[in-house]
Amino acid sequence: MDFKNKVVDLVSSQVDLPKDKISQLIERPKNEKMGDYAFPAFVLAKTMHKNPAEIAKETAANLTSTDFANIQAVGPYVNFAIDHEKLISQTLDEVLSEKEHYGDQKLGEGNVPIDMSSPNIAKPMSMGHLRSTVIGNSIAETMKKVGYTPIKINYLGDYGTQFGKLIYAYKRWGNEEDVKKDPIMNLFKYYVKFHEEAEKDPKLDDEGRAWFKKLEDGDPEAVELWQWFREVSLADFKRIYKELGVDFDSYKGEAFFNDKMQPVIDELKEKGLLHESRGAQVVDMGEDENPALIVKSDGSSIYLTRDLAAAIYRMNTYHFVKMLYVVGNEQAQHFVELKTVLKKMGYDWADRIHHVPFGLITQNGKKLSTRKGNVVFLDQVLGDAVDLARKQIDQKNPNLANKEQVAHDVGVGAVIFHDLKNDRIENFDFDLDEVVRFEGDTGPYVQYTNARAQSVLRKAAKMGQEPNLSNNSLNDDWSFSVAKALADFPRIIARSSDKFEPSIIAKYALDVAKKFNKYYANVKILTEDEQINSRLALVEATSIVLTEALRLLGVNAPKEM
Ligand code: ARG
Repeated sequence: MDFKNKVVDLVSSQVDLPKDKISQLIERPKNEKMGDYAFPAFVLAKTMHKNPAEIAKETAANLTSTDFANIQAVGPYVNFAIDHEKLISQTLDEVLSEKEHYGDQKLGEGNVPIDMSSPNIAKPMSMGHLRSTVIGNSIAETMKKVGYTPIKINYLGDYGTQFGKLIYAYKRWGNEEDVKKDPIMNLFKYYVKFHEEAEKDPKLDDEGRAWFKKLEDGDPEAVELWQWFREVSLADFKRIYKELGVDFDSYKGEAFFNDKMQPVIDELKEKGLLHESRGAQVVDMGEDENPALIVKSDGSSIYLTRDLAAAIYRMNTYHFVKMLYVVGNEQAQHFVELKTVLKKMGYDWADRIHHVPFGLITQNGKKLSTRKGNVVFLDQVLGDAVDLARKQIDQKNPNLANKEQVAHDVGVGAVIFHDLKNDRIENFDFDLDEVVRFEGDTGPYVQYTNARAQSVLRKAAKMGQEPNLSNNSLNDDWSFSVAKALADFPRIIARSSDKFEPSIIAKYALDVAKKFNKYYANVKILTEDEQINSRLALVEATSIVLTEALRLLGVNAPKEM
């Protein structure tokens, strides 16, 4: 039950303001004794030519509702105090009957392609690609929960001049067995070697260019090698995706758009948008802005042109209602250009495109860079996290059944949760020990809280007791604090989907876990009195919400750990 909406409805019956405006104005009084929601009346003082306290008083006097224990004016505020018992019983009832569908809602519909992960072939997947993968995946799950049809697209970086260099490097220094054994590691080694050698001998760059030209002209050897590199790299990436539990609806990468760029260039020309600037073809971005590069002076196409072709292709294929690009903030300008050029072409649907940027992951405060070879291998990060989780489980619960699966869920879940718990735009430093801690603001803490709830339910079942709301309602402050948090879940999901911000759900899960742990510490749940079944209902409802919140983040919730 959404009490805030009720407050909005009540206020709107009395004052002349649009509902969304009222909704923005509603506050949570700092002191809970003052009520649960407050409407500040001073915004009306000017239009109504009255003093705010008087407006508050009159408004409060005109309002009655059975959902609130008390509605009264306090100074310039109209305060609303929820009927605690009612909130608890209605919320728990709703969660228990809707189960994992609690929080489902219809905020929209239609296809939403999400361009996410998109690593580059023959290079290790970076921390940035990891972020894009887990943020994109969580947004996809959340969009689905509110009615949309997400389409997860992995726009692989599988084309470009670097493949000419790689082909040359492979033929010169590489061998098949090594690539088969550890594709990305070795292909990347050849690529780094190429750059080292090219510094000493600039002629190598010509060799690389020549092989790229062959690739473009369809030379069978070049094409075959390129396809092979793509295939083995993708197999490597898929291993990581499997660990993360993420899959994709499309792997149409950059190469797929090779033959779809010329039509875009022609269209730009036809529409009079293209002009020459220092030998290159560009589109003007307006005063004070650098023009957007469409064709380079050597005739080769570029990133933006490919993305234009891809966006148009996706519109024609999916007729999307929104399209998201989950890509690092450093590419912000690129997406501004993409949208601007589409708009200039007359495509109003460009407004449906959102760049969903995120910050950098650093290590010991330093930026990680693939080019310099100081890369983090993600398999290793995930493997280390699972090892650490296993160690902790060995200490806390050595006899746990299916320990391997739980260690995996906790280790990988910890990495994902850590990535999602801060506003995505923030940069953060990666410290594995901190990520996998069982206490503090971590994924394992939330998982552990859920496992604790499950353990209470198991114990109760052995006593012949089960969750049931029918007999006795709860009215204590600890229960109220948990139930009120559970009642917020639908609104949290709505906000997260609206802002494309998984951290809202992650922070919420931490909040629910903390409140539940306070409850657990202060209330004897398994005492066999007349309220035991109601308390078990609260425990089960908490577990349902925590499990579903974690699922929306892409994190598994083991029942025991
Ligand atoms: N492969 C690119 C990179 O690693 C990311 C691609 C993002 N998506 C896009 N449509 N441009 O930087």
